Amino acid sequence: MAFLEVQNISKTYRSRQKDVQALDNVSFTMEEHEFCCLIGYSGCGKSTLLRIVDGLIQPTSGQLLIKGRTIDRPGFDRGMVFQHFNLLPWRTVLGNVEFGLENREMSRKDRQLRAMSYISMVGLDGFEHSYPSQLSGGMQQRVGLARALAIEPEILLMDEPLGALDAQTKESMQTEIMRIWSIEKRTVLFVTHDIEEAILLADRVFVMGQRPGRIVDIVDVDFPRPRQDDLRNSVEFVRMRARVSQTLKQSGVVEADS
Ligand SMILES: Nc1ncnc2c1ncn2[C@@H]1O[C@H](COP(=O)(O)OP(=O)(O)OP(=O)(O)O)[C@@H](O)[C@H]1O
Ligand SMILES: [Mg+2]
Repeated sequence: MAFLEVQNISKTYRSRQKDVQALDNVSFTMEEHEFCCLIGYSGCGKSTLLRIVDGLIQPTSGQLLIKGRTIDRPGFDRGMVFQHFNLLPWRTVLGNVEFGLENREMSRKDRQLRAMSYISMVGLDGFEHSYPSQLSGGMQQRVGLARALAIEPEILLMDEPLGALDAQTKESMQTEIMRIWSIEKRTVLFVTHDIEEAILLADRVFVMGQRPGRIVDIVDVDFPRPRQDDLRNSVEFVRMRARVSQTLKQSGVVEADS
C-alpha cells in the first residue's frame, strides 16, 4: 500500500458567473519518505491539488487516501507551508511556531521546547522573540517551515514556499530544505514552477499540464544525495530540465490556442 494515494481527483469551482474546471482526473501515489515536486504553469491547479490533499477543500470527484485512510478534512498528519508565509504579525517567531500546537494536549513547557527545537533546526536561534515584520522574507519563510514541522506531520505540503524570495536566498533555502529533509525524512509534496528547483529537490517530479490540470509526465530523479548546487551543470540534469521544459510547453499549447 502506498503512503499517499491520489485517485482520479477532479475539481470544478462553481460560481454564478461560470464554472472553472481546475483539475481533471489527477492520479498518483507517493511512498513514505519520498520527496515529490509538482510543477506546472500558473493557474494549472497546483494549489488546488495541494489544498485538496490538506483537506481544506473537497474534490468534485475522486478520492484521497493516506495509509489507506480516506482524507476529507485537515488533520495533524498534514502540515502546510504557504507561499505568502501566512504568519501572524502580532505574534513572535516562537508564538507563530507554537500556534499549531496550542490545541494539542501538551504542557506549555513541552510546547515551547518543541517549538524552540524547530526554530533552531531552521537556523533561527536568537530570533525567537522577534516579530515577523522584523525579519527578512527568507527568515519569515523559515518560520513558516518551522511551524509546519513542529506539528510533526506525516506529510509536509509546501506551496511554492520559495516563490517570493530573491534568487540568492532561494538557492540557500533549497540547500536548507535538503539538509532539514535529510534529518527528518518526512514525506514531502512540494509545489513549484521552477524546473531546476524541482529537479534539484525531488525524488520524482510530477509535471502538470494546463487547463484543466492533469499529470502529463512523471520524471524519476535518481541523483545521489546529498546533492550539491553544481549538479545543475551536469549533462544529465540539463537533459532532464529540457525534458520537463518541453513537456510543459507542449501542455500549454491547448490553452494558447483556445
Ligand atoms: N476559489 C476559487 N474559485 C474559483 N476558481 C478558482 C478558485 N481557486 C482557484 N480557481 C481557479 O482554478 C484554477 C487553478 O488555480 P490554482 O490556484 O490551483 O492554480 P496554481 O497552479 O496554484 O497557480 P499559481 O502557480 O499561479 O499559484 C485557476 O484557473 C483559478 O482561477
Ligand atoms: Mg498556486
